[in-house]
Amino acid sequence: MAIEKLRVFGGHRLEGVTTVSGGKNTALAIIAAAAMSSEPCAIENLPDIEDIHVMRDILIALGAKVEMDGGVMRIDPSHLQGSSVPEHLACKLRASYYFLGALLARFGTSVVSYPGGCDIGNRPIDQHIKGFEALGATVETDHGRIRVQADRLRGSVIYLDMPSVGATINVMLAAALAEGNTEIVNAGKEPHIVDLANFLNAMGGSVKGAGTDNIRIRGVKRLKGCTYAVIPDQIETGTLMIAAAASRGDVLIRGALPTHMEALTAKLLEMGVRVDEGIGEDSIRVRSDGRHRRVNIKTQPYPGFPTDLQQPISVLLSTAKGTSIIHETIFEMRFKHLDEIRRMGGISRVNDRFAIIDGVPKLMGCPVKATDLRAGAAMVVAGLMAEGQTDIYNVHYIDRGYEHLERKLKRLGARIERLTEEEED
Ligand code: EPZ
Repeated sequence: MAIEKLRVFGGHRLEGVTTVSGGKNTALAIIAAAAMSSEPCAIENLPDIEDIHVMRDILIALGAKVEMDGGVMRIDPSHLQGSSVPEHLACKLRASYYFLGALLARFGTSVVSYPGGCDIGNRPIDQHIKGFEALGATVETDHGRIRVQADRLRGSVIYLDMPSVGATINVMLAAALAEGNTEIVNAGKEPHIVDLANFLNAMGGSVKGAGTDNIRIRGVKRLKGCTYAVIPDQIETGTLMIAAAASRGDVLIRGALPTHMEALTAKLLEMGVRVDEGIGEDSIRVRSDGRHRRVNIKTQPYPGFPTDLQQPISVLLSTAKGTSIIHETIFEMRFKHLDEIRRMGGISRVNDRFAIIDGVPKLMGCPVKATDLRAGAAMVVAGLMAEGQTDIYNVHYIDRGYEHLERKLKRLGARIERLTEEEED
C-alpha cells in the first residue's frame, strides 16, 4: 500500500507573506447549522480540507444538494429527509455530532454514532446530553449510537459544568428553533461560537451574548437562507506564527485577526519573538532571531491559551533557553507528540497534565509520526527547526485541518515536500 509522508529539510528561514484560510472549527459548526434552514445557503471562505469534505458528504447523505466551488459551499437543504448520519461518516470527525442538535431542531429527531476526532483523551458528551434533555428531548445511547428525540423543544436555562465548545454549539443549534427562550450559562467564548451565532442571526435566528459566558437564544419558527463568510482560522494563524518563529523567520500573515491571537502573542513576546500588527487590522508580522527564552504555559478556554496550540508551541520551547512547564488543563492526553520530539533530541518529562521541557541547543531530523492533527502541525514545526531531514508520517491527520500547509510553507522558503512511499509487507 502507498503511504504519504512529508519530508522537511530544517534550517531554512521562512520569509515573506502568507494568507490564513477560513476557520476549520467555525466552518464545521456552520455547515451543520445550514442543515436547519429551509432555504439554500452559501458559505464562503471554507478551507479545502478533509473535515469539510466529510461534512459535505454527510449533508449529501441526508438528502441536501451541495455544490463546492473554490472556497464556497452552496447548500440546498430544502429537501433534507434523513435524520440519521451514516456511521462511516460520523466516526471520521468530532463535528458530526453537531447534526444531533441541528437535526433535532429541524425534525425533532436525530441519530448519530459516537463521533470521531483526535485521540487526545476521554471526550465525554454528558453536557450536550444535559442540554438536549433540558430542552425537552429524550436521549438514548445504544450500540454506539446516540438518538435524540422531542415532540417539541422548549427553551430552558442550561448551566454547563465547563465552558465546552461542542456543548455550547449543540445547545445553540437545538435552541435556535425551540419554543421560547434559552440561556446557556458558563458557555464557551471561542471565536467560532461567536461566528456561529452571527450565522444563525443571518439566517433569521436570535442569539445574543455570544462571546460572553451567558448566551441567550430566542427560538424562532424557521430559519431562512443566507450567504455568509467564515472567520479566519485562529489555530492555523497561530501555527504559522509559531512556524515563523521556529525558522528564525520574518513572516507577514494576512487575513488574520490579531484580537483572537492575544494569548499566543503574549507568550511569543515573553519568549523574545517580535510580533507586530501589520498595516491594516488583518495582519500579523512575526520576526525572530531564534534566541528564545523559556516560558510557562497553561491551556485554558478562550481567551486563555488554546490547547490546540499547545503542541506546536511546546516544540518551539524544546530549544528555548531554560526549563518550561506546560499545564494542559483541557485534554487528558495531549503530550504524545513529545515522545516524537524526544526522538529528535528534545528533553522532556510528562507527569499527568504537566510537561516539563528542558531546552536543548538543537533538534536533529529523523522519522517521526503525527499522532493527531495538531501534533502533526507540531512535527512540521519541529522539522523546520531541526538539523537535517525529518520525515513525517500519518500526514492524513494534517490534511484533516490545514489547507495546503506544505504549499504555504514552501512559498515562504521552507524545504518541504510530499512523498509517496510503498509500504513494505
Ligand atoms: C473543540 O473540541 C475543538 N473541536 C477542539 O479542536 C478543541 O481542542 C476544543 O474545542 C477546545 O478548544 C472542534 O471544534 C470540532 P470541548 P470539543 O467540548 O468541542 C470536557 C482541533 O484540533 N467535556 O470544549 O470536543 C472535554 O472532555 C480540535 O481542531 C466534558 O467533560 O471540546 C474536555 O476536557 C481538537 N463533557 C473539555 O470539556 C462534555 O459534554 C473541553 O472540551 C463536553 C466536554
